Amino acid sequence: MKEKIIELEELSRKLEPARAGREALQQKANMYSNHFIDKLPDEPAYTAYEKETVNRLLDDQITDEGADADEVLSIFSEQVVPPGLNLSSGRHFGYIPGGGLTTSAVGDYLAAITNRYAGVYSSSPGAVALETRMINWLKNLFGYPESGGGYLSSGGSHANLTAIVAARDSKKLKGADYSRAVVYITEQTHHCVDRALNIAGMSECVRRKIPMDHQFRMRTNLLDTAIEEDKEKGLFPWLIVASAGSTDAGALDPLDEIAPIARKHNLWFHVDAAYGGFFMLTQKGSNILTGISESDSLVVDPHKGMFLPYGIGALLVKGPNVLSWAHRFEASYMNDTKVDSGIYSPAEISPELSKHFRAVRMWLPLKLHGVAPFRAALEEKLLLAEMLWEKLSDTKQIVTGPKPQLSVVMFRWEPFGDDSANDEVNKKLHKLFLEDGRVFLSVTTIDGRFYFRAAVLSARTHLADVDLLLKVLHEKMDSLREG
Ligand SMILES: Cc1ncc(COP(=O)(O)O)c(C=O)c1O
Repeated sequence: MKEKIIELEELSRKLEPARAGREALQQKANMYSNHFIDKLPDEPAYTAYEKETVNRLLDDQITDEGADADEVLSIFSEQVVPPGLNLSSGRHFGYIPGGGLTTSAVGDYLAAITNRYAGVYSSSPGAVALETRMINWLKNLFGYPESGGGYLSSGGSHANLTAIVAARDSKKLKGADYSRAVVYITEQTHHCVDRALNIAGMSECVRRKIPMDHQFRMRTNLLDTAIEEDKEKGLFPWLIVASAGSTDAGALDPLDEIAPIARKHNLWFHVDAAYGGFFMLTQKGSNILTGISESDSLVVDPHKGMFLPYGIGALLVKGPNVLSWAHRFEASYMNDTKVDSGIYSPAEISPELSKHFRAVRMWLPLKLHGVAPFRAALEEKLLLAEMLWEKLSDTKQIVTGPKPQLSVVMFRWEPFGDDSANDEVNKKLHKLFLEDGRVFLSVTTIDGRFYFRAAVLSARTHLADVDLLLKVLHEKMDSLREG
């Protein structure tokens, strides 16, 4: 048996290359990473693809012997990365961009190498303390009390789901109550909220969509009336979900007006600030986000407004006990982890047990850069969006959506008097943008009409990128005019 063990050890030790092997791999990965970042300004924001070509990856061979690092990196750089949207590009204006700061990627690398377990305090107290430090920093930013809590999630959808569960449990809703339970949202509420209700087992609950004003903001007088009416009908108004920056229009519900309505009717007030929350760092943002501190829970995504690579959201709650109640557990193999640390461990207040040590990817950029460049970048995005909106509004035949409250600009080309002819020409314009690839815009439908959306949020989006967007737009409109 000993001989067998020694023979197996020899092979299994291949999993941990010696220093020279590690350095060689790190050097190759580093060279590729730096080349990737250096080339970004010249790279397309979108690369059209054939699914037959991309799906060849499904036949990628995983062998017993393993492959050469150069060969593997070339598959990654030539087949995996290029097709589709270049999310690292400053000319990505689609959906909600982020960025992918290098300092955060290095944080991920350190977290992975040290593999500290940020789930329970007794295992890696430093890791749990750092996660808690990030939550406390966020609590302070949003005016949440010291007694509040929260956790770093994989993203906004996961954090919104946990918020729904917290709201459900805090109002002591049971299965028999779900069909009477009413949640107040708008047409602009992110679809992950609806999905979270389904995942939480509450698909029967009533979704009351409150009408919006011309800026796509919840009309709070109608919210109040709807709650009164639902009570009279014998329903159970339970939860208000406000958007602090809706995905489609970048709209900001009037949080300071919603808070007293929630209090008056004793409803849980949740704010989905996944996109808009970090504008709180700016003067304009903190002025227009007033009322956010009055919420019972809020979601904010560092992988959006802090420009971090994908994989980090955050949930804050006023009363963390409701999270610990929802995620309570008993397991004999965990008894030794129950220590009196004075802080919650993420495993006690969130669905994950073994988890990625996410705090490092947020902490490292904050520590190394300081807050000022984040504030500047966010203020820059607000101004770029305003400038883009003004230039588009001044362009003949371009119809713009409302002046951006944050950094999403909606517009469409209207060369014809007829809506459906205009829809058709905008669809052609969209196709030309995709074929060209220098600039990526996503599209949506507002009041049945096709609209382009330019969401300015990538850390790498600057003046020249917005100018290029306008240049490409004019070029493509000219080419369609020429037919
Ligand atoms: C307002 C809003 N809420 C929630 C989400 C979902 O977040 P995630 O994609 O991180 O799961 C998004 C994503 O764009 C969003 O914009």
